Amino acid sequence: MCHSCFSVSIILLIYFQRSLPGDYTSGPLGVDKVESVTKTWEYASFFPNLDAYIRENIQNKTLSSLGVRQKTTGQLVGWMLEREDGSLGMLHVHPDHRGKGIGTVLIQKLSEEVLTQREAVYVDIEPGNRKPIKLYERCGYEIDSAQLTWINYKPQ
Ligand SMILES: CC(C)(COP(=O)(O)OP(=O)(O)OC[C@H]1O[C@@H](n2cnc3c(N)ncnc32)[C@H](O)[C@@H]1OP(=O)(O)O)[C@@H](O)C(=O)NCCC(=O)NCCS
Repeated sequence: MCHSCFSVSIILLIYFQRSLPGDYTSGPLGVDKVESVTKTWEYASFFPNLDAYIRENIQNKTLSSLGVRQKTTGQLVGWMLEREDGSLGMLHVHPDHRGKGIGTVLIQKLSEEVLTQREAVYVDIEPGNRKPIKLYERCGYEIDSAQLTWINYKPQ
């Protein structure tokens, strides 16, 4: 799943473990949560079959995912998913639950899990979204000196 836009690749090196606040718990996403993911992801419109793609991969357990749920309300408040090109993405934390370390735990836990299955773990960050870079760096990612441009082949 490549974007036809400029992106900065960040590769995982080391990380510092942080845990969730007491009212939150984490686990793999279920298929019933796919709609929440696709509805909030800013770039969902680039991928017409995104819903079916995520659903299938979650059902078949072919790609890793992680969600964070608030125990008292049962609400899913954040998530991150592995994509078929090996990158991690779609990181999202509900605005009411930000600044509590949930994003950090999502990045760290999913990165660690995927790193047991792949040689390298990386994320792509769109050029208009520079804010999360510091967050990724704090989690142990390091910016690749080669900045990459994804270009997609479109059959004529
Ligand atoms: C980025 C995001 C997942 C962080 O979640 P979070 O649970 O607040 O993360 P944490 O509490 O672990 O860390 C918060 C830190 O992330 C930083 N941050 C990074 N990107 C941010 C963003 N888009 N909005 C707010 N804070 C952001 C904050 O400045 C904060 O740093 P500080 O502790 O130095 O003040 C969340 O802000 C979000 O969902 N943003 C919108 C979607 C997005 O940008 N996703 C990343 C795509 S690559």
